[in-house]
Amino acid sequence: MTIVSISDVFLDKIKLNSSICIQGWIKNKRTSKMGLSFIDLYDGSCVYCIQVLAQNKLQNYANEILKLTSGCSIIVFGKLIKSIGNNQKYDVKANDIKVLGLIDNPGSYPISSKKHTMKHLRNFSHLRARTNFFGAVSRVRNCLFHAFHNFLYKNGYYWVSTPIITGLNSEGAGDMFRVSTLDFKKIPINKNGDVDFRKDFFNKESFLSVSGQLTLETYACALSKVYAFGPIFRAENSNTSRHLSEFWMLEVETAFSRLYDIINFCENMLKYVVNIILEKCSNDIKFFQDTVDKNIFKRLYDFSKKKFFQIEYKEAIKILNNSNRFSTQNLFFGSELSSDHERFLVEEYFKFPVIIINYPKSLKAFYMRLNDDGETVSAMDILVPGIGEVVGGSEREERLSILDSRFYELKLNKNDYGWYRDLRKYGTVPHSGFGIGFERIFSYFLGIKNIKDVCPFPRTIHKSDF
Ligand code: 4AD
Ligand code: MG
Repeated sequence: MTIVSISDVFLDKIKLNSSICIQGWIKNKRTSKMGLSFIDLYDGSCVYCIQVLAQNKLQNYANEILKLTSGCSIIVFGKLIKSIGNNQKYDVKANDIKVLGLIDNPGSYPISSKKHTMKHLRNFSHLRARTNFFGAVSRVRNCLFHAFHNFLYKNGYYWVSTPIITGLNSEGAGDMFRVSTLDFKKIPINKNGDVDFRKDFFNKESFLSVSGQLTLETYACALSKVYAFGPIFRAENSNTSRHLSEFWMLEVETAFSRLYDIINFCENMLKYVVNIILEKCSNDIKFFQDTVDKNIFKRLYDFSKKKFFQIEYKEAIKILNNSNRFSTQNLFFGSELSSDHERFLVEEYFKFPVIIINYPKSLKAFYMRLNDDGETVSAMDILVPGIGEVVGGSEREERLSILDSRFYELKLNKNDYGWYRDLRKYGTVPHSGFGIGFERIFSYFLGIKNIKDVCPFPRTIHKSDF
């Protein structure tokens, strides 16, 4: 008897009338008056359930099978047959059913088969993967991770594990979680009255990384083509549908490359991964078509075929000013684009992803390369409808004297960045890179409005359950 997954059955990998064993959880159960129970069983391998036919001649029919409810776990030994109904291709006619786990007090099962709100399910992250929705999210998420890795591997990029604990703020600005083993009740104080971090675990202040970029640059300036893909931590005080305190970022860094090289590379990679999920996860995407976005297939096909729009930051300001939708007081060279501004550009003006390039240096991090105009940096952000920014990248300032003047302007201590400056001292090269917010792009692909619903255990301000 072969143990098979439900996806194997629906991929026609299992011969009709063969003896099989299927293991899973019950989605629904109906019992006919004729002494026959219909059990919809799922095992997470695909979006479908397989229907199990349990007849009253099974030895545990009365005392066990009749008592099974949604969520119970069972092992079914039986025969794969052509379905007796019209809704599905196959059924499993059970010869024996072993009950593994019952549901304590079925009336209070938090994810019973009735419809639940996303908000309700967020309180049950440990159980919500059992719903069709989160099962589908998890499978596409897995496929998307592999697709990114495959694209980079095929293009000769090396995956570098950049550190999660760091002593440096890579973005040069706040929002970091501290890593410390100091006793909160007995904080050591130095002569100046400040916390004495020399007594801390690493003998200095340490944090969780907000980006692997700076350490990744060291490898780009040795292996030429590298990427990092791991968790990122940001203590931003933003409780929105697009902010997580812990998220995954894909960061790509390429030596001897300019802004236009990385823009093309990033756009091609995004189109490639969309084609992969369309090809490999069409059943799951069909589920999202039925439940969250009826346009999903067209949207993804368009995304993978049509070139993204590209505009200068200055043009973006002009478009926003001419729209008469926003107060012009906040729209001049140097203004930060708010999420409303970004959404107007992608959702109403272009109605498609847009790449904005050449931002004022005052809006961007110290490492971005200064353009010849002396006021903008060679940077790019990619914005998409419904979310806003999903990618941020730039050429890196490879000229030591200009980098040092940026440290000075931004009141950063250049001595803290000694090893980063070394890259510019020893065989400096032009290089560029970008970071993709994995959950942001993923929620855009699936048309899921809240970023908390595309990762298994979301961490956001005031919430770190599980
Ligand atoms: O634009 P950011 O801050 O860029 C960097 O960190 C660069 N060092 C990346 C690089 O060039 N290697 O972040 C990159 C992306 C954003 O475009 C956004 O998609 C995502 O990370 N992101 C977040 N995603 C979820 N929750 C948050 N709080 C996020 N903050 C940024
Ligand atoms: Mg950014």
